[in-house]
Amino acid sequence: MKKIGLITSGGDAPGMNACIRAVVRTARAEQIEVVGFYRGYEGLIDNDCIQLTKSTVSNIIHRGGTVLKTARSSRFMTSKGMQMAVETLQKHALDGFIVIGGDGSFRGALELSKQHTIKTIGCPGTIDNDLVGTDYTIGYDTAINTVTEAIDKIRDTAESHDRIFVVEVMGRDAGLIALRSAIACGAEAILIPERKNDLARLMEKKKSWRKTKKSRIIIVAEGDENGGAFGIGNLLKKEWPEFDIRISILGHIQRGGNPTCMERVNASIMGYYAVQALKNGLTNQMVGIVNKQVCYTPFQDAVKHIEELNPDMLQILDILSA
Ligand code: F6P
Repeated sequence: MKKIGLITSGGDAPGMNACIRAVVRTARAEQIEVVGFYRGYEGLIDNDCIQLTKSTVSNIIHRGGTVLKTARSSRFMTSKGMQMAVETLQKHALDGFIVIGGDGSFRGALELSKQHTIKTIGCPGTIDNDLVGTDYTIGYDTAINTVTEAIDKIRDTAESHDRIFVVEVMGRDAGLIALRSAIACGAEAILIPERKNDLARLMEKKKSWRKTKKSRIIIVAEGDENGGAFGIGNLLKKEWPEFDIRISILGHIQRGGNPTCMERVNASIMGYYAVQALKNGLTNQMVGIVNKQVCYTPFQDAVKHIEELNPDMLQILDILSA
């Protein structure tokens, strides 16, 4: 292994920079050259790249976003784009490739492996935590801390005005950000895509709410079937005219900010082991950490949709928020 390529791809996530730094520093310690391509697969198509040395990754571990920039590349899904990407790999004579991204990025890597024999390893980078084969994806811990901080602030104003707030969080079609932040914030209810009867559950729950407590926090995952916070909030305004209801969409603040300590450490471990995996000849596998142990999961398994959330966590939320 003499030379490897590196991209960050898909939605950015805090901790990606820590992972880039770990990949580069580990590779350089093994005398492996690292070429970083800008904007994910777009940079591979256009051969838009930079030689990454130890000093180019100084002072980035604490920064959100990604210094390599990122994109969701539609060109990479065309045969012309794929062919150009393959030509770039050949031009640089790369022996290995590391992709920091989510399920779309790993699906892209699988497609690439049909056209080129390059060995590829993935590091899970997405705030959604929706990959099989790791307890935490890079970005998730920071995102749930950002959500917790934002909802704590919303709680202050909700209580002062005796209002109900319906707060929408990200997660695409997964409710993991919603569930964990709901426990952390003491939210009264969540609506998530993995559970189909959450609206009926909320209506039922309201019957046992104390009349004296007028302020409540309801967290809605953006992928929920009832139309997100606007869908639920507008419906509740009609159904519960006795309450003063506000809607708040947290949006892209969840994707930014300095990564937490845990994020930086996990991202560093994953970056380190991604290089080790390439050295050991692995390919098309994602590095993950499960029960504090580093493990590798084939891309095709890592991208499988998580159908069910941990029932214990759901029960804990239900009991504590009753
Ligand atoms: O996958 C990360 C994520 O932030 C999702 O939670 C969200 O649905 C999506 O990306 C938003 O993507 P974009 O920034 O491209 O609109």
